[in-house]
Amino acid sequence: IKRIGVLTSGGDAPGMNAAIRAVVREGLHLGLEVYGIYDGYAGLHADRIEKLDRKSVSDVINRGGTFLGSARFPEFKEQSVREEAIKNLKKHDIDALVVIGGDGSYMGAMKLTEMGFPCIGIPGTIDNDIPGTTYTIGFDTALNIVVDAIDRLRDTSTSHQRISIVEIMGRYCGDLTMGAAVAGGAEFVVIPEKGYDEADLLAQIQAGIDKGKKHAIIAMCEHVTDVNQLAKHIESVTTRETRATVLGHLQRGGTPTARDRIMASRMGSYAVKLLLEGEGGRCVGLMNSKMVHHDIIDCINNMKRPFNQELFDLSDSLF
Ligand code: F6P
Repeated sequence: IKRIGVLTSGGDAPGMNAAIRAVVREGLHLGLEVYGIYDGYAGLHADRIEKLDRKSVSDVINRGGTFLGSARFPEFKEQSVREEAIKNLKKHDIDALVVIGGDGSYMGAMKLTEMGFPCIGIPGTIDNDIPGTTYTIGFDTALNIVVDAIDRLRDTSTSHQRISIVEIMGRYCGDLTMGAAVAGGAEFVVIPEKGYDEADLLAQIQAGIDKGKKHAIIAMCEHVTDVNQLAKHIESVTTRETRATVLGHLQRGGTPTARDRIMASRMGSYAVKLLLEGEGGRCVGLMNSKMVHHDIIDCINNMKRPFNQELFDLSDSLF
């Protein structure tokens, strides 16, 4: 392997820049040429490919987002689109590709690998929902943003004796919601993994009010229910003023935490070393504090993310 490409794809995540930087600097350090592909698979298909050097990744470690740009590109599911992408990679004599992103990005990397072009996946998403790793780049930064938001909401909901619902990203994974609920001391946690029963939630809120609770924070994962409707419903049943706050894309921006920068640096460097050892078609991850790698096809098709029951129980028992 002499030349590698790197791209970021799907929803961006703080720390992606640190991962690109690690891929570029480790690659150059080990004698490779590194090419940046702009705007994810869309840019790969459109041949937006440029050689990167040490300076291309100066002053990016502290920046959120991804300087390469990212895109959701469902067209990549089509074989003919991927064939075009491989043609572009070959045109630039690129031998292998590092893909930094979430599950959709892994799927693209798996497909390219199946078509004979070696890819390696690095988990980058605030959702922490990728199999084969207990950590995804961006999670810690997003978690800190959400906890900060909950702290602020607590101030105002205490002053007004209100109930506050905060909607948290994560797609269909409750990790961000659970982590934020424990760290922010939320009274109620609703995540997709545990199902949702509105009547039960209302009964619990009422029980809290009956015990003299003056305010409450409900940490709610996105896609579970309409939080604005729920706020109205809670207000009509309990007569307590209730407000809903959708944190939205605020959770995906901003300076990456030290944890995300370190993790991204480790994963980026590890991915390049694996490629040099001849390992294509892999995805990297963190398990028991160590870097690990798995077959990307096996990872997507067969590995499941374990549910963090301990954290869920904690969110329940400590409120
Ligand atoms: O996967 C990251 C994520 O932020 C999810 O938490 C969220 O559901 C989704 O992306 C939002 O996607 P978009 O930025 O395309 O609206």
